[in-house]
Amino acid sequence: MTDDLQSLRDDTEAALRRAADLRAWDAVRVSVLGKSGTLTALLKQLGGVPAEQRRDRGAALNRLKDDLATLIEARRGELEAAELDARLAAERVDVTAPPRPRETGSIHPISRTMEEMAAIFGAMGFTIAEGPDVESDWHNFGALNIPAHHPARADHDTFYLPPTAPGAPPPVLRTHTSPVQVRTMLREKPPLRVVVMGRTYRADHDATHSPMFHQLEGLAIDRDLTLGHLKGCLIDFLRSFFGIADLPVRFRASYFPFTEPSMEVDIGWNRRTGELGGGGDWLEILGSGMVHPKVLANCGIDPTVWQGFAFGMGVERVTMLKHGIPDLRPFYEGDIRWLRHYAASPFAPTMLHEGV
Ligand code: PHE
Repeated sequence: MTDDLQSLRDDTEAALRRAADLRAWDAVRVSVLGKSGTLTALLKQLGGVPAEQRRDRGAALNRLKDDLATLIEARRGELEAAELDARLAAERVDVTAPPRPRETGSIHPISRTMEEMAAIFGAMGFTIAEGPDVESDWHNFGALNIPAHHPARADHDTFYLPPTAPGAPPPVLRTHTSPVQVRTMLREKPPLRVVVMGRTYRADHDATHSPMFHQLEGLAIDRDLTLGHLKGCLIDFLRSFFGIADLPVRFRASYFPFTEPSMEVDIGWNRRTGELGGGGDWLEILGSGMVHPKVLANCGIDPTVWQGFAFGMGVERVTMLKHGIPDLRPFYEGDIRWLRHYAASPFAPTMLHEGV
């Protein structure tokens, strides 16, 4: 082999060794065998070689071409294998690595209580009704037999909003869920059986009062409902909700402008230990009564044909009692430690009691 061919072979071999990836390899291939590659150029010059040398020169060039092609292909094989190895190494899955901790959300105690309430009242045939948080004075007070200047208004620590028209009574943040009673009676024909769960607002803030809290409201309207139905419904609910089959329940005469007669409801507990049940003490838990005939009439229902009962209770309050939560404020603080302690697993079945 002549010197120039030998050095082309050596140079090509060296360049192939230096080519670290397939791109570099392809550049070498093109620079030798490509259209303007070095070997191609030598083949083109063959015509100018003196006739007596041409045969040998041609044969040598062809041999070199075959050799170089073989070398180039071999290097391609090496580089492809190396690239595959690198990819496999990069994509390797360590099946022995410990799993990453998975964060699971949980059900806030208020949502959990409301789900439980909905399940119990749902089993009794109540459906769920809703209403707006921003209410007219009439829905929140007037229709419920609490006219302007009625002393009951003073109990509500109302948040008033700017009036929508000069001289008009200002809208309010609803101080209770009872306006949804009004909306339901105006919208639907009796007989009715609804529960309402939602946010309510009063300008009050300490360990047992929050300016925003939740209430559950119930309303049943039919032709012949009595105080007995009201009592049976609430006794069943309270025993089922607290999971105490013999929970003492006491009805005590009271006053609400929108019910007549009105009753406050107490449950038995032990004041010293906080334990619910037959502990000898009484704890007030909710307000109730027979819907006042004036309220029925205000909502377009004939009180000589229809009557009904209603009740309302604080969702936070019953949640605190049920789970022994001492302070109201953490309900709204989103402290993950508190939530871990009191929130429910989303995978736990909803508490549904037999016999409701
Ligand atoms: N709305 C009353 C309150 O917030 C509770 C209640 C509702 C009382 C229905 C009687 C009937 O205090």
